Amino acid sequence: MDIQQKIAQYYETVLSKTHLRTLLDNDERNKHLVTQFDGILLDYSHEKVDTELIAQFQQLVDSTNLFETLKDIQSGIKFNSTENRAVLHTALRTPEAQQVIVDGQNVIPDVYQILDRVKTFTESVRSGTFLGYTKKQLLNTVVIGIGGSYLGIEFIYEALRTHHEGQLKSKGRQLRFLANVDPVDTIRALQNLNVEETLFVINSKTFTTAETIMNAKVCRNWILEQYKLLGHENEKEILESHLTAVSTNLAETGKFGINEQRVFGFWDWVGGRYSVTSAIGVLPLSLQFGYDYIAQVLHGAHSIDQHLVNEKQVSKNLPVLLGLLGWYRASIQKYQALALIPYAQCLLRFPAHVQQVHMESNGKTALVYPDKHEQYFKSACPFIFGEPGTNSQHSFFQLIHQGSQVIPCEFIGYAKSQAETGASNPGAVRDQHDELMSNYFAQVDALARGKTKEEVIAEGVKEELQHHKVFPGDRCSLQILFKNEANPYNVGQLLALYEHRVLVEGILWGINPFDQWGVELGKVLAKNVRSVLLKNVDNHNNLDFTGFNANSATKNLINHYRAFQGKQ
Ligand code: F6P
Repeated sequence: MDIQQKIAQYYETVLSKTHLRTLLDNDERNKHLVTQFDGILLDYSHEKVDTELIAQFQQLVDSTNLFETLKDIQSGIKFNSTENRAVLHTALRTPEAQQVIVDGQNVIPDVYQILDRVKTFTESVRSGTFLGYTKKQLLNTVVIGIGGSYLGIEFIYEALRTHHEGQLKSKGRQLRFLANVDPVDTIRALQNLNVEETLFVINSKTFTTAETIMNAKVCRNWILEQYKLLGHENEKEILESHLTAVSTNLAETGKFGINEQRVFGFWDWVGGRYSVTSAIGVLPLSLQFGYDYIAQVLHGAHSIDQHLVNEKQVSKNLPVLLGLLGWYRASIQKYQALALIPYAQCLLRFPAHVQQVHMESNGKTALVYPDKHEQYFKSACPFIFGEPGTNSQHSFFQLIHQGSQVIPCEFIGYAKSQAETGASNPGAVRDQHDELMSNYFAQVDALARGKTKEEVIAEGVKEELQHHKVFPGDRCSLQILFKNEANPYNVGQLLALYEHRVLVEGILWGINPFDQWGVELGKVLAKNVRSVLLKNVDNHNNLDFTGFNANSATKNLINHYRAFQGKQ
């Protein structure tokens, strides 16, 4: 029997038959299922685990040479085998004095060359040395990008905009995002902006993403139209003052009319959804908060990168534990969803970021080595969703507590509130924060322990209501607790924690977390539909579908769409 079968058997015969209430009654067990690293505490005592299972996790990790693989990845092997690429987002935050070799070349000098350019450029914008076309200070930044060229940046922006120092650094500045190709998103992004004070960052690794390129063109037109209204028509110079780009495709950024001095490159060894610590994130975030402040995000991420490969004891390695627990819940316990609940309003976009990192990475079943993996290694990436607590409690927690399926939860909290620093009434803020965190602690026990019929009866509940008030409990969760308030350093740690746990799960499942073939088919079909719509711009019935290979149901639907757009 191999180790994953042993784990499955132990779960079937022991843990699945032991209610979390019983597990939690064991003080000795509880003491062992918590660990800390660099200001982060991970408590996994409310998971369906015990010390015996953690020892089995260690055997699993050792037998699959997980740590060697993680080290090899950080050293530049072409782990992304389907695209023949190295996977080195960790190099983006490696200290300058170190080396990382890809194809015989140390990539660290290139990383710092771009970072230095980002620092110089963003400081010149923030200090007013680099100005807009009419010599006004560029106070607004609009980031045009989607998926990995958007979500991670928005998560970090939201996480830091209420941090005391972040507020001071960004005073008088605005950062906005334009991701969706919906024209309404364009209205929202540009609403009430003064073009003379606005800088655009076009973020696209490939510079071919349909949504981003269309939005970039719409914004380019908007800039020119706005300037025309002001009586300025020198298109080349106007655009040079207001457009910047981050991409690996420098040929296309040039064709788009962006001055090469305002283009910041990165490399094919940075996956899109892992690119937030490249110029993709560092450029717009530094425009908003200043380079030195954002550099702390990189330091925090680096701390976790090191911890991942250096801490070989699984019970102490935070990202490895998160990955193992994720694998265990999905592949052994067979839970299909995961709720990510930050008890921190500033993390409101963290679940959206993790949705992409996790589900675009591991939402696949094609094995890298199909013949090597047994059943328990099959990918079973959960469906991820989340909202900040306490809002989520008043939304979907009914299902989490009493629904027919168990949904494991990951709770994230902070010992201190961002609102405390600089507050005129720190005592009142602490009081409010304690109220918030009381819910964080209470939910964990409510989920694990539940409420039995006997307890309901003892409360004197009427007979007909008794079964409505029973909570099954035995619902697992884990808690991440930060020592400090959300700040750039620990936001970088959080980013890296979730990046690496996804990798650990991917390795255990034997899949390649760094490709995303599953998004291609829809893109191709959308292009085909688009050509039908273009061919039938003014045609509101019996559209011409020549060359369009689709079933009649889809054609009928498209016909209705155009018909609805016709005159009433
Ligand atoms: O959704 C597919 C995808 O390729 C993501 O992986 C990526 O983050 C996003 O599109 C945007 O890609 P790009 O940065 O090349 O515009």
